[in-house]
Order: sequence, then structure tokens, then C-alpha cells
Amino acid sequence: MCPYFLNHMDNNVIEDVRNRLSVASSVTILTGAGISAESGVPTFRGEDGLWRNYRAEELATPQAFKRDPVLVWEWYNMRRERLSDIEPNQAHYALARLEKRVGDFTLITQNVDGLHEKGGSRNIIELHGNIWRVRCTGCGGIKENHDVPIDIPPYCMDCGGLLRPHIVWFGEMLPDDVLSSAYSALEICKIMIVVGTSGIVQPAASMAYTAKRAGAYVIEVNLEMTPNSGIVDRTIIGKAAEILPLLI
Ligand code: APR
Repeated sequence: MCPYFLNHMDNNVIEDVRNRLSVASSVTILTGAGISAESGVPTFRGEDGLWRNYRAEELATPQAFKRDPVLVWEWYNMRRERLSDIEPNQAHYALARLEKRVGDFTLITQNVDGLHEKGGSRNIIELHGNIWRVRCTGCGGIKENHDVPIDIPPYCMDCGGLLRPHIVWFGEMLPDDVLSSAYSALEICKIMIVVGTSGIVQPAASMAYTAKRAGAYVIEVNLEMTPNSGIVDRTIIGKAAEILPLLI
């Protein structure tokens, strides 16, 4: 499928997607870091994806946390501080508006920044967890924690165990209930919009294919072509905060 580069020639593409969305009974969205880029949140594989010369793949792992929980918490403190005064952008708000209009709406996100909830979305499946939640490595208790910075290393008030970010790290399995909710939404949706993801990390990378195979009309909104571009019905190249408000 050739990509559509949004310009004045592409109003027919926008119109077509708007018409489809206006009659869709069930819509599922999948978002990645690109939807938060215009809020100032660095993407993972963009040029600002490094911290102290570490890549996310080297820090967001159980092995890294076991080896050096303080270093990993310092990385998360940097990310929490970056996120603490960041606001949703027009792409987040557009999806929240769409949710109010569609009978059956599910937003699946790979992002852990909490911006979809802050932007008004409600039926959210956080595939990779949430940076504003911590989980005890001892008793497993999960709590909201918005301390910026969080005292490191943080310990559980209930059992004294070491707290970790409630985030799915590389090499860890996604919770079964989260995955089954996501696949249920993908199997029944009439339209799927994939926004701001490089389509590299599984299982999210295969979700466009799952929806397409189940009969959905799949649209991709991204700054560049991705492995999903060959699977979806339409790829609209551009910034999510500009394009989603046009579509919705
Ligand atoms: N609008 C639309 N797309 C954008 C924008 C924007 N303003 N800015 C960047 N993008 C696109 C990039 O072109 C890229 O294809 O968003 C995508 C971001 O890709 P990644 O940085 O790989 O982020 P993501 O796909 O969410 O990564 C998936 O990998 O590191 C793990 O767990 C982490 O959830 C993350 C997962």
C-alpha cells in the first residue's frame, strides 16, 4: 500500500477516513511514543533516545534492575521529572473526543507517560504499564506514586520490599489480562488507527495485522513508513497532533 503524504491533494483521504469514523460502531487505537512527541516526550528510537549513553533496552530490564537498582531508578527519576510538567497534545485530546462519539472504543497504548488519561481518554489498555505506578518486588503491591523525584531506592510501606517501576521491561511477559483485553478489542473493531509507533516491539508490532486479518479497516499515522505500512489500508505521513484532529 503506497503511503499518503498529507497535503492539499490528500483531502479526499482525510474525508474518507472521517466518513468511516463517523459510522464506525467499534474503533480500536494503538499508540506509541510518537503520539507524545509533540508534548515534548522523547521517543525511544529518535535522536534523543539516549541517557548517559544508555539506551532504554539496556536499562529497562530485570537484569539491569537486579544489577543496579539505583541506576535504573535514576533513569526513571529523570523520565518522571521530564514528564511531571508535560501536558497532553491535540492528538491525545482528539482521541478522547472520538471515544465519546463511538459506542465501542478501546485505546491500547505502549506509552507509560499517562498522557492519554490526562487527555481525557478512559478505556485505556496500558500494554507496558505506567511510570506513575510502582510495584513491590516483595508483596507485589501496586501503588500510584507521583513523587518527583522519588527517594531511591524506594521501599514498600507494607512489607519493606524494594519497589520497582510498574512497567513491563524488555524480556518480561505482558500480563495475560492486559493482552487478552487488547486482542478482544482488535478482533471486533471495524476501524483501527495506529499512531506514532515504529512497529518494531512485539506484541504491539503485530496488532495492526491482527485487526486487519479480523476484517478491520486499518489506518496508520506516523512520521515515517514502518513495517506496518505494508499491512494497513492507509498510511498518512505527518505529525499526530496535526493529523488526528483532522481525522476526528
Ligand atoms: N507524530 C507521529 N509519529 C511520530 C511523531 C509525531 N509527532 N514523532 C515521532 N513519530 C514516530 C516515529 O517516526 C517512530 O516511527 O513515532 C515512532 C516512535 O517509535 P519508537 O521511538 O520506536 O517508539 P515506540 O514505537 O512507541 O516503541 C515501542 O519500545 O522501547 C520500547 O517499551 C518501549 O513502548 C516502547 C516500545
